[in-house]
Amino acid sequence: MTDKNTSIVIFGASGDLTRRKLIPALFHLFCKGRLPDSIHIIGFSDGEFDDAGFRDHLCRNAQKFAGDIYDDSVWPAFASRIFYMQGDLTSAESLAKFESLLRDKEGGAANRLYHLAIPPFLYAPTIANLGAVGMTTQDEGWRRVIIEKPFGSDLASAQELNRQIHAVMAEEQIYRIDHYLGKETAQNILFFRFANTVFEPIWNRNYVENVQITVLESVDVGHRAGYYDKAGVLRDMFQNHLLQLLSLVAMEPPASFDADLLRNEKVKVLKAVRPINLADTVRAQYEGYRQAEGVADDSETATYAALKLFIDNWRWKDVPFYLRSGKALKEKVSEIVIQFRQPPHVMFDMTDNDDFTANRLSLCIQPDEGIHQRFETKIPDSTQDTHSVEMAFHYRDSFGESSIPDAYERLLMDALRGDASLFTRSDGIETAWRIIDPVIAGWQHDNAAPPMTTYAAGTWGPQAADALLARAGHTWEISCLHED
Ligand code: BG6
Repeated sequence: MTDKNTSIVIFGASGDLTRRKLIPALFHLFCKGRLPDSIHIIGFSDGEFDDAGFRDHLCRNAQKFAGDIYDDSVWPAFASRIFYMQGDLTSAESLAKFESLLRDKEGGAANRLYHLAIPPFLYAPTIANLGAVGMTTQDEGWRRVIIEKPFGSDLASAQELNRQIHAVMAEEQIYRIDHYLGKETAQNILFFRFANTVFEPIWNRNYVENVQITVLESVDVGHRAGYYDKAGVLRDMFQNHLLQLLSLVAMEPPASFDADLLRNEKVKVLKAVRPINLADTVRAQYEGYRQAEGVADDSETATYAALKLFIDNWRWKDVPFYLRSGKALKEKVSEIVIQFRQPPHVMFDMTDNDDFTANRLSLCIQPDEGIHQRFETKIPDSTQDTHSVEMAFHYRDSFGESSIPDAYERLLMDALRGDASLFTRSDGIETAWRIIDPVIAGWQHDNAAPPMTTYAAGTWGPQAADALLARAGHTWEISCLHED
């Protein structure tokens, strides 16, 4: 960490993200002694606060959202680093005034991390204004910007946004967040694959029958209909989180753990994704969605999707990758399943054995973080009967109950350190849109698209998603939740 003054400027400081995620994450980093002593955290928005009022507001929310992390005895020291300034992002004049107040506060040369916790339509104008008043030049310290998702709503808008941002800032200054990359379990995919010898040699089409990426949510659309009814599940979850998980599971090993080498490999594998056949897609809406506040009565927005895709390269040729995600489902669970092939020849008598299962590895992303390996074992006292058993690793057992920090802690820390490995590069974002755009367009305009189906809230989703796998003799698997 640099010893220069460092400021974190949160634009959109009076919003939800700041109080629920950013401040609790920064507070925890402060408690762990990871923030520079000279840190200034400056909230900027059009809301009416003074420093004391802003600190009180954050304190109340930290008690609510920071859980066990909140510590009364440390809060005052942290709060003394927080300041608030009111202004209008869309006005260069207002930002110029902010810049001079900020300089006074910093009292000399400083590094700055700008976090855009603002609606997406404000990203480009805000960055243009920051550029116009000289707030992005790096003469006296670095200037970086964190941009939240959604980054564009299709390929064209993402390209345009990249163009507008690049007109002001270099790619090295831009940190596009996908909070799934900040999850410990997502980071661990690379460690699991490349810090061990036994898995990688079988991580390919010779041994893998199919790969499943499941990200199910039990929450429904809630109060976010204004955004969600326009976005739908493909934009909200697939273009970003699911494709990022896919790239971590399927990418080739980079030569070193370097942001650009890593992201080169992730982009490379996404570029190898074969255009998705519409017949290999499922779209569904949960019953009652159209009655939710803010949702159109005749909304055709999918709240659930399942896709089958292929990666056309030597490692993965013709191995189906199944992706599914949806809202209002039975449980919240994110899991990646590597389903291995059956042994080429089974010498045991299988006549009465319907329990025989090919090996399966489950990477449990959340909520019960861990890894499960399923294998066959002989049932004691039988002659040839087998039973599937599991070896399981749970973070809570090996590292303690609260070992897993919130994704934002890691991402904020990395941005302060200048490590962009866990952030999406412009070409990565655009490649992901290239995969998803044709499916969105096909669903809207192509007669070959599957019809929208429905599913009851609180279930595992539409039957059509099971049928998608059944056609190839596959079934969705979840090992990270143990049902009765
Ligand atoms: C967000 C989506 O990016 O991810 C939300 O916009 C979704 O709709 C959320 O609920 C899921 O994140 P997590 O970390 O709870 O799995």
